[in-house]
Amino acid sequence: MTDRNATLTFSDGSAPVTFPILSGTIGPDVIDIRTLYGKTGKFTYDPGFLSTASCNSTITFIDGDKGELLYRGYPIEELATKCDFMEVCHLLLYGELPDVAQKKDFTGRVTKHTMVNEQMQFFLRGFRRDAHPMSVMTGLVGALSAFYPDSINLHDAHQRDISAIRLIAKMPTLVAMAYKYSVGQPYMYPRNDLSYAANFMRMMFATPCEDYKPNEVLVRAMDRIFTLHADHEQNASTSTVRLCASSGTNPFAAIAAGVACLWGPAHGGANEACLAMLGDIQANGGVAKIGEFITKVKDKNSSVKLMGFGHRVYKNYDPRAKLMRETCHEVLSELGLHDDPLFKLAMSLEKIALEDDYFVSRKLYPNVDYYSGIVQKAIGIPVPLFTAIFALARTVGWIAQLNEMIADPEYKIGRPRQLYTGATRRTVMPLAQRS
Ligand code: CMC
Repeated sequence: MTDRNATLTFSDGSAPVTFPILSGTIGPDVIDIRTLYGKTGKFTYDPGFLSTASCNSTITFIDGDKGELLYRGYPIEELATKCDFMEVCHLLLYGELPDVAQKKDFTGRVTKHTMVNEQMQFFLRGFRRDAHPMSVMTGLVGALSAFYPDSINLHDAHQRDISAIRLIAKMPTLVAMAYKYSVGQPYMYPRNDLSYAANFMRMMFATPCEDYKPNEVLVRAMDRIFTLHADHEQNASTSTVRLCASSGTNPFAAIAAGVACLWGPAHGGANEACLAMLGDIQANGGVAKIGEFITKVKDKNSSVKLMGFGHRVYKNYDPRAKLMRETCHEVLSELGLHDDPLFKLAMSLEKIALEDDYFVSRKLYPNVDYYSGIVQKAIGIPVPLFTAIFALARTVGWIAQLNEMIADPEYKIGRPRQLYTGATRRTVMPLAQRS
């Protein structure tokens, strides 16, 4: 309840209407306009949700001006340095960091679900080998509902929990299978004595002829990529998952919708697009051509963007980018890649953009994808797989948000309205009379 209100007045003489103002624990207040249409016959108009809170949530908080990101109240900087991804998953899903026993139990449950049904490989075989991994992942994740019909009832909390564990456990296996299929290598089964990140890297890089020895620095970098991408409030893919699940569809279908949304270059596809951009600059002359490229970015008629820069919410340094930047340097040192021309180019481009008034005045800073692409490339992950790895990491956030929505007694099917600007009612003319 609230004792503060906002009053909306109209210039056409209609009576003013009053709405309650609601406060969260932190962040901007919201005006509760749920009764607006009933009271006035008018909708609000907010394409792109620039001023709309679509739900209430206790999971993630972002202060874009400060450059702050909290999962369940904990700063991302602390989680990234003091916890591993399994602890972060437990936190996002259940609201608290696990103690020693809870972590053992949770990790054990995830580990026991890492294998996928053997039929999955036949499903995968239907794809072209050169299919984009995100098209494959959209299909595979959606198909999980056909493999686990025992856990698709969204309204059963126990089934939701099993689906959550299955999805978190199986995403690395599916991403690695999609990769192995694309290069024509045999699938590697999960190894449950390895950590979540190390197991994924082994499924990616080992072959039956040669095992993969996890490198601690690289495994830590992968784990950090997972942690930093685990959730991000009501972004496009999370909102997609919520909207999709609001119809009561099953969790696997809803997460598949999230995967499809994440694919876009303005969202999760940015790390891939960023590497493609660096590759283009490199091919056209490298560091010497940065100035020319920046001129194109600034040209309003060019539609060229500096990929990996800018964010809808962060108008300050993306805190995830700071952590990823640190990891990026660790990985480049570990692999002796600091002098690699592509990585040198990325660092020069970052420096130039950070000093350029166009970016400074628009508060365009590097986002997490700028560095995560570079780290993944250095680790040996093929560029088209970057977004699939983002999907793997974001799965826990999507499920946590989905579960939160379903458990909310106020939850309703999502059904936005519109400002219709099309033709008014007209009559269909017989075909011969249409011109
Ligand atoms: N390069 C050049 N100019 C840019 C960029 C960029 N990357 N991003 C924004 N601008 C300009 C934009 O042209 C506009 O200029 P003006 O005011 O002169 O018209 C101004 O900055 C404000 O931009 P906007 O388009 O209103 O910002 P937005 O909030 O709608 O877009 C964004 C956010 C992330 C889609 C956009 O910054 C972008 O396309 N960045 C590149 C893609 C990218 O890196 N995306 C990953 C986001 S982080 C991962 C995630 O959370 O999914």
